[in-house]
Amino acid sequence: MLTATLPHSVQSPARAKPNGRQAILERCVERVKSTSRIFGLRNPQIGSVENGWQYCNPFDWVISFYAGQLWLAYQFSGEPGLANLARARQSDLNLLLSNLAAQDHDLGFIFSLNCVADWKLTGSQTARQMALRAAEALRARFRPAGGYIQAWNSHGTENTTRSTFVAGRIIADTMQNLALLYWAHAETGAPDFKMIADAHAETTRRNLIREDGTSFHTFVFDATTGAPLRGETHQGYAHDSCWARGQAWLVHGFAQSYRTTGNPEYLDAARLTAAKAEELMGDNEVPLWDLRLPADEPQYLDSSAGAILSAGLFILADVTSGEEKIRWRAFADRLLDGLIETCDVTQIEGAQGLLDYGAAHVRRGSVRNMLPYGDYYFMEALMRSLGHSRFCW
Ligand code: GLY
Repeated sequence: MLTATLPHSVQSPARAKPNGRQAILERCVERVKSTSRIFGLRNPQIGSVENGWQYCNPFDWVISFYAGQLWLAYQFSGEPGLANLARARQSDLNLLLSNLAAQDHDLGFIFSLNCVADWKLTGSQTARQMALRAAEALRARFRPAGGYIQAWNSHGTENTTRSTFVAGRIIADTMQNLALLYWAHAETGAPDFKMIADAHAETTRRNLIREDGTSFHTFVFDATTGAPLRGETHQGYAHDSCWARGQAWLVHGFAQSYRTTGNPEYLDAARLTAAKAEELMGDNEVPLWDLRLPADEPQYLDSSAGAILSAGLFILADVTSGEEKIRWRAFADRLLDGLIETCDVTQIEGAQGLLDYGAAHVRRGSVRNMLPYGDYYFMEALMRSLGHSRFCW
């Protein structure tokens, strides 16, 4: 069994409150433990009224974010029951492995957060084999003509609207799924896991990130020739705006990919997108759901974007030095403090999650919810801020 202790001294800039954060992290771990008794083997999908949850179906992209929290809580506390609760959720993941039609680019999130975490923390061979099967399925989504991993599937050939929408489309979120391919490359030595991850990262860097450092949420290629066609949004305000969670996926994904590969272009991509997020946020401590939102639009917050961005900035601070390191650490701290001050519900009795004010999909009316990915990255950011360095990615 693996246990982890918090470092005794953590250097931190003036704004950071590491002791306060340790207490908050302890509250998160207690909340994960107490909700496990309510959830059974269900997994939270989106917050419902009074800080409870609606639950996932077995093929939902968010299915493993609670397992990810259980693994972080296990790493923090060393309590074997938490590992057992996370591992018990792997039977649902076997359903996904045997259902090709249900698989999409989110295999990376789903298997890194549970099976790779299990393998890294306990050495489970079963979990390792499952994660390798998922990596093979993710690798098979590569489209050589355009050099990208297709994000989504059509739901049956008769649905032509959906087929047209998904064909040749990449999305910012996929940058987080590449970690599964890099991990599979490190485990097996098979070169194509890394070649495909690198090709997708390069296509993302060239097409999704605009010259000024803002990003499209999605980009469409000719599905036959691979020719680049146009950037579009799906969950953001407009095609030419900058969806906050997409920008956060890019910062975390490129910083993480740089740490894994040492490719300096990934570091530059993380820097560029982080700097633009910093500029567009102005004095805000929790991001609005879109970083280029007109002033006359409802100004909904997205705490999940803040949590993902903060965790990604702690990685960026880790891989840089001097003044630059101080800059990214200060931005990461500001975001984390903003979440703690505005969105943290761990002191609210009866609440079943960690953060309020997530915006899952504003256009569909999901504007103020707890979100399991916001909760996962909040814990990841807290742990990174306190000096932890072992994660599933
Ligand atoms: N990956 C889907 C989302 O961020 O909403």
